[in-house]
Amino acid sequence: MNSNKVTGLVLAAGKGTRMKSAIPKVMHDLAGRPLIGHVLASLNALEFTKILVVVGHGREQVTEYISQAGVQAEGGNLDIIVQRDQLGTAHAVQQALPYLPEGTVMVLSGDQPLLALDTLGALLETHRRCDAAATVLTAEMEDPSGLGRIVRGEGGCVARIVEQKDADAETQHIKEINTGTYCFQVEALRQALAHVRPNNVQQEYYLTDVFGYLTQKQRAVAAHKLTDPQEAMGINDLYQLSVAEEIYWERMRRYWMREGVRMVRPSTILIEGDVTLEADVTLLPNTWLRGRSYIGRGSVIGPQTTLDTCRCGEKCVIECSVAEEAVLGNGCHVGPFGRLRKGSVLENDAHVGNFVEIKNSIIGRASKASHLSYIGDAELGERVNVGAGTITCNYDGAHKHKTLIGDGVFVGSNANLVAPVSIGAGATIGAGSTVTKDVPAEALALERADQRMVSGWKTKIGVSKGSSQGAKRAGKAEKEK
Ligand code: UD1
Ligand code: CA
Repeated sequence: MNSNKVTGLVLAAGKGTRMKSAIPKVMHDLAGRPLIGHVLASLNALEFTKILVVVGHGREQVTEYISQAGVQAEGGNLDIIVQRDQLGTAHAVQQALPYLPEGTVMVLSGDQPLLALDTLGALLETHRRCDAAATVLTAEMEDPSGLGRIVRGEGGCVARIVEQKDADAETQHIKEINTGTYCFQVEALRQALAHVRPNNVQQEYYLTDVFGYLTQKQRAVAAHKLTDPQEAMGINDLYQLSVAEEIYWERMRRYWMREGVRMVRPSTILIEGDVTLEADVTLLPNTWLRGRSYIGRGSVIGPQTTLDTCRCGEKCVIECSVAEEAVLGNGCHVGPFGRLRKGSVLENDAHVGNFVEIKNSIIGRASKASHLSYIGDAELGERVNVGAGTITCNYDGAHKHKTLIGDGVFVGSNANLVAPVSIGAGATIGAGSTVTKDVPAEALALERADQRMVSGWKTKIGVSKGSSQGAKRAGKAEKEK
């Protein structure tokens, strides 16, 4: 889109009293991102030349988030403006005027996360086509209460915008409302703002008064009406947040199903905005895909699985598991009940499952840790078999150490590998061994006391045959048969 010389201006200074929360309103999370993050993501995608954000309440938190590399880098030229006292939306825009280059400005609220990119593009398009001084994004609402009403005059043109609190009975019947998103010619906005006075019930400086002023001055004023009024939904309390979030999840599901992703019981599946899925992925109930996760073609994820910023190749199966910042090759199998922590790398055809935790480790191609293990700070080669209950003892109470396991190693069940330790290729570790020394390739390492046999043990410890409770019970059971 040609968005030369368009500035995005986000109003985010309000308190959000109805959230009843210590968190500033625009910092509340919706599907893994703060409300304002959704608005900034749209502005980034529109490639505006400049983005200005007006902050006030909770400005430390909001500023910290906005200043993060991720948000800043994409937006390029982003400035934060402080509005110390919140005297109204016109007052908020006035604080930004000194930083506003000539040209066009799009004004948005930081608490409207559902506005679609296409909608913002269409608003700008209408503004340009009408060569308007000001263009407002409107919506037809079944229940318009609390919102500003669009009063249309001659030929259906916008005459002015009236706040609910200032509206007479007739105006209150109008169902077309102001979404709070606009485009302005900066020169016209400057001129109009100088004339805004707080002569209203709330004694606030209303940005909406700019429309009445410009109409009076015979300047062209336009409106762009939303087809889906849901998009304009503003978040004022935690119930509205949950409703908006549901709409967001549904949008994501619809999008990915149309891209060829199969979902079973879709209403239980949550996919955040930065997730990428290939066609022929299957998602089973209660799957939550978070962060910048990627799932390759033909993989089956779920049920009951959470993946956060994981990269998963083709034809993997991950069931009833939790993973974060893990990388899986093709054909891997995780779970049921796998836990992959940060830095877990599973090469092709690796198998991790049934109560196994992996942290900061490489599991080589076709290697298996199938039952009840902890593998931390380890590097496993190919075709390693880790027996049930094996633990890498990576922590000595002060430092973490590495365990190296060569190709084709067989680790017997219930072994402890005390790091730092290295097991050569093809070696075998006897079940139950606590290995503290490096094991050469192809060797057997066995560390356990020889088994002793003491005959007649019960008699030796004074339990005569037949007198024990257990023996009595066994005898009785025998008779009843
Ligand atoms: C505003 C509009 C109303 C519209 C509604 C849509 C005005 C006068 N009214 O009303 O017509 O239907 O939005 O949601 O503009 N803000 C500041 N500084 C301030 C006041 C507000 O930054 O001094 C920010 C808020 O944080 C919020 C946005 O501006 O992001 C809108 O403010 P809000 O108080 O929610 O306006 P409404 O009364 O809802
Ligand atoms: Ca509002």
